Amino acid sequence: MPMKDISWTKTSWRQFPAHQQPTWPNEAAVQKVLAELSHLPPLVFAGEIRSLKALLAKAVTGDAFLLQGGDCSENFSQVTAPKIREALRVLLQMAITLTYAGGVPVIKVGRIAGQFAKPRSSDTEQVGDLVLPSYRGDMVNRADPTMESRIPNPKRMLKGYNMAASTLNLLRAFTRGGFAALHRVQAWNQEFVSQSPMGRSYERLAKQVDQAIRFMETIGIPVDSPQITQAQLYTSHEALLLEYEESLTRIDSTTGDWYDCSAHMLWIGERTRQADGAHVHFLSGVLNPIGVKIGPSYDLDEIKRLADLLNPDNEPGRLTFITRLGKDAIEKVLPPLLREMKKEGRNIVWSCDPMHANTITAASGHKTRKFNDILSELTSFFETHWAEGTVPGGVHFELTGENVTECVGGARDIVDDDLNLNYQTSCDPRLNAEQSLEVAFQIAEMIRS
Ligand code: PEP
Ligand code: CO
Repeated sequence: MPMKDISWTKTSWRQFPAHQQPTWPNEAAVQKVLAELSHLPPLVFAGEIRSLKALLAKAVTGDAFLLQGGDCSENFSQVTAPKIREALRVLLQMAITLTYAGGVPVIKVGRIAGQFAKPRSSDTEQVGDLVLPSYRGDMVNRADPTMESRIPNPKRMLKGYNMAASTLNLLRAFTRGGFAALHRVQAWNQEFVSQSPMGRSYERLAKQVDQAIRFMETIGIPVDSPQITQAQLYTSHEALLLEYEESLTRIDSTTGDWYDCSAHMLWIGERTRQADGAHVHFLSGVLNPIGVKIGPSYDLDEIKRLADLLNPDNEPGRLTFITRLGKDAIEKVLPPLLREMKKEGRNIVWSCDPMHANTITAASGHKTRKFNDILSELTSFFETHWAEGTVPGGVHFELTGENVTECVGGARDIVDDDLNLNYQTSCDPRLNAEQSLEVAFQIAEMIRS
């Protein structure tokens, strides 16, 4: 089938195989929701999307660094002010540390305000004697293990839109209204350093950031300037539910170009990135920055096709490859990928997701990840790029600002038996606030030269 000859419209993805889509019980109800969504205002604006792309273009050459993180799967019940505030806070704290150590701007992108749909490795899940349809994210069905909860309900897409809108509203308020001021963020980091068991080892770095801020004050840089008092947080999610993404895809009236206005950046997951598939086709036609997850069993020719399809003009900032290879495989499978892309002169932001190929099941049955495995993949990522002469342009985490016990290890040495204490995720295990900051300080030590 000469599929790639189909010219792009926001509905042309429907002629391609689309994996991981819900089986809605009632098509008329779906159409009604999509019609409603198509009339609602965009969540983000084309100008903001272009600004993000321009920043990402700098990450291609190492003149900026991407920090992307948030929940594996956001939940409607967790769309609360404290939860959003704490997620923002931890991202800002990580960013300040990385900015100081790396000496380049850190581009902050949340897995937030729309990360409501999940790909699953199986369509069904066995719970006791029941075989239930899998939970596919709050925008599709409910997580609790009953047959009724798991029936996909298209109205949840509308609710997802509303939840994303109220999350974004609060994020915009927090980032503009003084919450994100440099002094505050640095004060939180000082608190972390003094309270965490590992804190002492980060004292020196935290002190240097302090001195840098004081130096700016001394020489009279106005402390009430937006650069000091405000932050910019961009949003992202996996573009999984193509009907939802289509309905938020709009023409920018100033340029006549198509943008997916559900988030600034969209990524394509490891399970839906087939070069002949609907997800790649859909995202090839919108101008947002696009991420592509790449797992250890990638096919090099397919990756090249993806780069051709998604970034035919080789525009810097358009394409981010998010490698998630696993702590053991990375050293073997990352170099050939980097070499080939470098040889072809492709402009790519290389980001490391050290989470998704390091998931294990604890004796207690909880899905977990070891803090040291995450650090190990990160270390290999940086070292491999440095050895290959390519640019490690960013990192991608599943994290939360809450004090959860989902990943084992870290300074408080969470062990298997602790996972029960506060295991909240409805999907993959996240780093808690302290573990996230620790990772940031560890990366900072690695990259400062
Ligand atoms: C995710 O980022 O939550 C995810 C499902 O990742 P991947 O597609 O890399 O498995
Ligand atoms: Co995940």
